[in-house]
Amino acid sequence: MSAFTDGFLWGGATSDFQYEGGFNEGGKGLSTHDFETDGSLERPRMISLKLADGSRGEVPTRESFPDGAEAEIYDDVYYPSHKAVDFYHHYKEDIALMGEMGFGVFRFSICWSRIFPTGDELTPNEEGLKFYDDVITELEKYNIQPLITICHDELPDYLAKKYDGWSSRHVIDCYVRYATTLLERYKGRCRLWLTFNEINAVNGYAQIGTHKQDEQTVYQAKHHMFLASAITVKIAHQIDPDNMMGTMYALSQMYPATCAPEDVMACYIKRRNNLWFSDVMARGYYPNYTDEFFRERNVKLVKEPEDDKILREGPLDMVTFSYYRSMTVSKDTKLTWAMGLLGGDQNPYLESTNWGWPIDPIGLRYTLNELYDRYQKPLFVVENGLGEIDIMKEDGTVEDDYRIRYLAQHFEEMKKAVNIDKVPLLGYTMWGSTDLVSLSTGEMKKRYGFVYVDLDDKGNGTGIRSRKKSFEWMKKVCHTNGEDLSF
Ligand code: BG6
Repeated sequence: MSAFTDGFLWGGATSDFQYEGGFNEGGKGLSTHDFETDGSLERPRMISLKLADGSRGEVPTRESFPDGAEAEIYDDVYYPSHKAVDFYHHYKEDIALMGEMGFGVFRFSICWSRIFPTGDELTPNEEGLKFYDDVITELEKYNIQPLITICHDELPDYLAKKYDGWSSRHVIDCYVRYATTLLERYKGRCRLWLTFNEINAVNGYAQIGTHKQDEQTVYQAKHHMFLASAITVKIAHQIDPDNMMGTMYALSQMYPATCAPEDVMACYIKRRNNLWFSDVMARGYYPNYTDEFFRERNVKLVKEPEDDKILREGPLDMVTFSYYRSMTVSKDTKLTWAMGLLGGDQNPYLESTNWGWPIDPIGLRYTLNELYDRYQKPLFVVENGLGEIDIMKEDGTVEDDYRIRYLAQHFEEMKKAVNIDKVPLLGYTMWGSTDLVSLSTGEMKKRYGFVYVDLDDKGNGTGIRSRKKSFEWMKKVCHTNGEDLSF
């Protein structure tokens, strides 16, 4: 089978609070993730709190704060975002390794509170902008295009404390000022942008800055994020017509547990309840079926008269998504978030990772077809990969054949989507191409990378970077444009 189209972009993806560190350097303000503790599969991540009576408390990361509580940092608590993997000081070395593999693209997020420390300022922090200038300069040395996530699941903590995060329309203005600053500053050097990360999956203080997580609050916040994105898309095209704008969606596939029509219909509706976010943003309007979605949840969106026009004027140029696994659902399945999993029933045909995520490469081809049929816009797989425990041997090697197998199987299915189904796929960025902190558990031992980083779950270690076996394999994939997937 012939290879991917010329110009197909192979690369890796990261987010600032899982990778960058330097949480109090370079004039950066506190970000909402700086208050999130580590966790594990058994122990949820928490936001540490100062309670209304001044005493100490904490709350699981996706739950509502007790009345009067505020996020607080304590000296004796470990917060993974503070150091993360220290890209802040290692970016030259990390990007050189990406260059060696032959990456054509690197997806990273800019930390909002590094550019606007409180989010409310009118002028940006030059030192923060300069850091990302330097990152882009380094990427240019290796012909790697930046793919910038403007906001990856976080915001300046000041905006959360003062305005209750995205529940306030004021934050739309702050976001647009921040996004416009980036679009102007990096004009001509970056043309691939994501306005938000996994907008259909994020909630919790760290991610949207709201103190309460009831459905009314969360969906109102999402409405404000849709508006902020649409306004930004319009501005981005005015600044540079070559800008390609996307937003990232968590779109791991869903299957009915049986062919009973009740299960098939239930699966269809659950999938649709996941897809309406991309419907709004790619098409520019709320689909009819969201009336029922909101009615069932007793959610009444507060909209200004101009909101529908704003959405219509800022549809996305490309549909970008994460795909890690598939889920199986019946009419009785309750989909709730737990430890990074959106529930689902066992699929007897699939094996799962050590973190319980079913491995399903064919689901990726299915998803690519579904999304292209639905939107008729170019697609980009901006997250995919295998989080596993990697063992470094005494001689310094990491034999991660399981990761190579996972990726090869997914690439084969992408190839079929491109060559047989004729889906226009722009590129692929593997999640956590350099090992980084897990979002759901805050662990280091759930590793995704081609590059091993010597740090443990508490951030102890040398931070030394080493090539895994998958590094050499990915080099071959990049250099043959996906033609040679053998190992
Ligand atoms: C996506 C997020 O949900 O999945 C990333 O955009 C995250 O931030 C990734 O890291 C993998 O999840 P986890 O929990 O294994 O880190």
